[in-house]
Amino acid sequence: MVDGTLLYQGKAKSAYLTDDPDTLVLAFRDDTSAFDGEVIEQLAHKGAVNNQFNAYIMGLLHDAGIETHFIQRLSATTSLVRRLEMIPVECVVRNRAAGSLVKRLGVELGTHFEEPLFELFLKNDALHDPMITEHHAKAFGWASSTELHTMMDLSLRINAILTHRFSEIGLDLIDFKLEFGRYHGRIVLGDEFSPDGCRLWDQATGEKMDKDRFRQRLGGVIEAYTDVATRLGITIES
Ligand code: TMP
Repeated sequence: MVDGTLLYQGKAKSAYLTDDPDTLVLAFRDDTSAFDGEVIEQLAHKGAVNNQFNAYIMGLLHDAGIETHFIQRLSATTSLVRRLEMIPVECVVRNRAAGSLVKRLGVELGTHFEEPLFELFLKNDALHDPMITEHHAKAFGWASSTELHTMMDLSLRINAILTHRFSEIGLDLIDFKLEFGRYHGRIVLGDEFSPDGCRLWDQATGEKMDKDRFRQRLGGVIEAYTDVATRLGITIES
């Protein structure tokens, strides 16, 4: 099934062709990047933890009626997915203020919003993923109005599902990033959902349980990711 040809090498994952033109194998590597690839380090077991974390979340979303690219996990660090035509726009949902929003608007870290905030960013490391509006996405042909509407609707539905699930295990889902693609005319969730692409704060202690531990050099990165996985009932196989 695995053809073995490398199609694409991202900062943390590699995508390989299979003998089926409609599927890819995603390999989750230990590489951990921050600041759009300015800092890259290897964190032992991260590939395995994120692959198995992502498999769990994609399964949860599928069970809740969200169409994703995920088909099945193949090994500790690899998964079979549908091959999407990726849309180069990152969808971010925020429930509380953190990260670039705090820097950009000067609002206080942790500020709660009455309603989740939805933002779009262009996926472009060289430009540091600039924030865009739906008008830019339409003007440059990155996505149509209908597609953008679907991406926003799916992102907010995913936020409701995941906010609820993380709150059951004592974590606040502060924000997260999603990427979507086209599959036979439909908008489908692609990429991954792992602690690399979201912020999770412990409700009891306020401790950061996500990639901010790496960005801010707090240490215990994989220990935190594994703790979240364990609370979700995932047993990480290495
Ligand atoms: P930000 O605060 O840096 O804009 O990020 C918001 C959330 O989205 C945070 O959980 C990190 C995630 N994110 C990524 O994982 N990759 C990205 O390229 C961007 C822009 C955000």
